[in-house]
This record gives sequence, C-alpha cells and structure tokens, in this order.
Amino acid sequence: MTRLRSVVRGCGSYLPRTTVTNDDLAARVDTSDDWIVQRTGIRQRHIAQPDETTSVLGIKAARAALEDAGIDAASIDLVICATSTPDHTFPSTATQIQAGLGIQTGAAFDLQAVCAGFVYAVATADKFLATGAATRALVVGAETFSRLLDWEDRTTCVLFGDGAGALVLEAQAGEGLASDRGVLTSQLRSDGRHREKLYVDGGPGSTGTTGKLRMVGKEVFRFAVGSVTDVVTQAFEATGTTADDLDWFVPHQANRRIIEASADKLGIAREKVVLTVDRHGNTSAASIPLALDAACRDGRIKRGDLVMIEAIGGGFTWGSALIRW
Ligand code: ACO
Repeated sequence: MTRLRSVVRGCGSYLPRTTVTNDDLAARVDTSDDWIVQRTGIRQRHIAQPDETTSVLGIKAARAALEDAGIDAASIDLVICATSTPDHTFPSTATQIQAGLGIQTGAAFDLQAVCAGFVYAVATADKFLATGAATRALVVGAETFSRLLDWEDRTTCVLFGDGAGALVLEAQAGEGLASDRGVLTSQLRSDGRHREKLYVDGGPGSTGTTGKLRMVGKEVFRFAVGSVTDVVTQAFEATGTTADDLDWFVPHQANRRIIEASADKLGIAREKVVLTVDRHGNTSAASIPLALDAACRDGRIKRGDLVMIEAIGGGFTWGSALIRW
C-alpha cells in the first residue's frame, strides 16, 4: 500500500567561531581538563558571541541544509525550531529563521523539549508530512545554552556549548517497508515529576527573569541510561529491526559515559556510535543534528543507511526516531 514517508533531503550545521577549552574553564572555576574529560568526554565547546543569537545560528544551519538538499527555501512549508534558548520569549525563533530565509508561506513554530527537542521536532514534522499537512519541512535544533549557565557553578558550566543543526525532510510516497527511505518510527515520552533534577530557575511566568540552569547530574545520569534504552528498544520492536541492522547510532551528546553505557546495553557496536561530545559539549537540542551533519560530511552516514537518534532532557522528556537515510 502506498503511503507518505518523511525522507531526509539535506543536512547542515553551524558552530560559533569561538571555542573554549577545558583549560580555559579551569582558569575561571575550580576544575581541570582531567576531571572534565574523565567524567564527560568533553574537551572543548563552542560559545556564541553576543551577536550570535539562536536564530542567527539556526539560519546558518538551515541554509547549509537547504544547500545540501539542493532546494529553494521558498519550497519549505513547515519550519520547526527545537530550542530552549529562544532569542525572545516571543515571537518564536522559528518565525525568525523563516523570515531570515525569506520563506513567506506555511507554518513556523518552536518546540521545547530541552535536550530531547530535536527528536520531538523530527517526530512532529513527520506527523505533518506523513498526513499530507505539509510537503517540505525544515527541522532545526538551535541553542545558545551559554546564556543560561551559571558560570560560577563548576558542576554545570563545564558541560554545555552552543550550536545549531538542521534537516530538510520531504514527504515521499513509498511502500511503507523498513527498507524504504524515511522516518520509520518515532517514540516520545515524558514524565514531569522529575522537574527538580534538571531545570532553569526562572521564566516569564514565575520570576520574570531568564534564570540559570540547575541540575542534579547524578540523578539525571541514573535515569538516562534506562530510559533511552527503553525507547530505542521500542523503536526496534515497532519496525521489526534489531541493533545488528543499525548502521549508525547518533545519540544526544551529553556525556560519553551515558552514550557508551546505552550502546553497550543495547548491543550496539561501539564503532557504530557517532560521538561529537568531545568537540561540541552538550548543545541540547542542537547536538543530534550537529552529530548527524558531522557524520554525513565525513562520509559515514550514506543514503540507505539505518540511523537511530535518541535523547533525554529536562522534564524529563525523552525519545527516539529510526530513520532510513
Ligand atoms: N570539576 C571538578 N570537580 C567537580 C566538577 C568539576 N567541573 N563538578 C563536580 N565536581 C565534583 C563534585 O563536587 C563532587 O565532589 P565531592 O565528591 O567532593 O562532593 C565530585 O566532583 C563528583 O561529582 P558527581 O556529581 O558525583 O560526579 P559525576 O560522576 O556524577 O559526574 C556529571 C557529574 C558529569 C554532571 C554526570 O553526573 C552527568 O553527566 N550527568 C548527566 C547529565 C546529562 O546527561 N544531562 C542530559 C540532559 S541535559 C538537558 O536536558 C539540558
């Protein structure tokens, strides 16, 4: 039976010019390169300059994805931006990306699921495309998490970075087989009871300020491995695939230890794991499209490959999506 699938047409990313090493941070707070590398795998992160807002990063990543797809921005009829660091409380960053690209038709909106934002955005775009409600979607993950950090708090400020990545997804008719290209399944979950473990202590409706990121890292770590392995397993079950069928595992890049523990538990070979956390740190909703783009650019991810993305973030929110590239 013929059905619509969301097929990847292009991928792109953008990183701010300025990099900050662990040694740079050790000059500001009581930490060390050794501690950060050992506990997280992070060696450096990119930090946005004041003129590099989330929409500025998002527009550059989106342009790269459109160029990769070889399509005109005017043919996009859906823009979703996953972010927790919008330029302004409103209008949405997605509308500013839309305007920056000269798109005047279709819909644009932000999606907020913190580090799971990109998986949520792919799942949402997929529903629009698979039902015929849109034909070409730009799915952007863009963040300036550096603006949310308490630079005196060594337990959080060493973990995050800024950046943006984007995918162009297009509705294409197929047979609906696992061998056909496109998003094969997405699995989304959330549980708001975990708010206190990872949150920002401000907002327009409470303090009237932006607030700073607060995290009980150990608690997040404890929850992360079990929850992401559950949603990845459910994606395999939903599509009749297994870890052996997978070509690439592209997880949210928060911590190398979480990523490797999850891959091991799922039986995914280490050489199939795409890692960028060493160079980018945790860029929240931008981390997966940044990693996807890195692996496309260096020739690892190729057309027809089976690619699993997964993430967990504040809320908690978490999810996975399996994509035939
Ligand atoms: N440098 C040096 N020492 C430090 C630092 C630092 N930057 N940060 C903490 N420490 C110290 C602590 O104070 C503690 O010292 P103590 O034993 O004297 O009290 C010690 O190091 C150990 O701290 P832990 O918090 O127990 O370290 P842990 O091994 O758990 O690693 C980390 C911390 C890296 C944050 C880890 O818990 C983690 O990665 N958690 C998950 C984070 C995550 O995945 N987030 C994803 C979602 S993010 C989002 O949605 C926005």
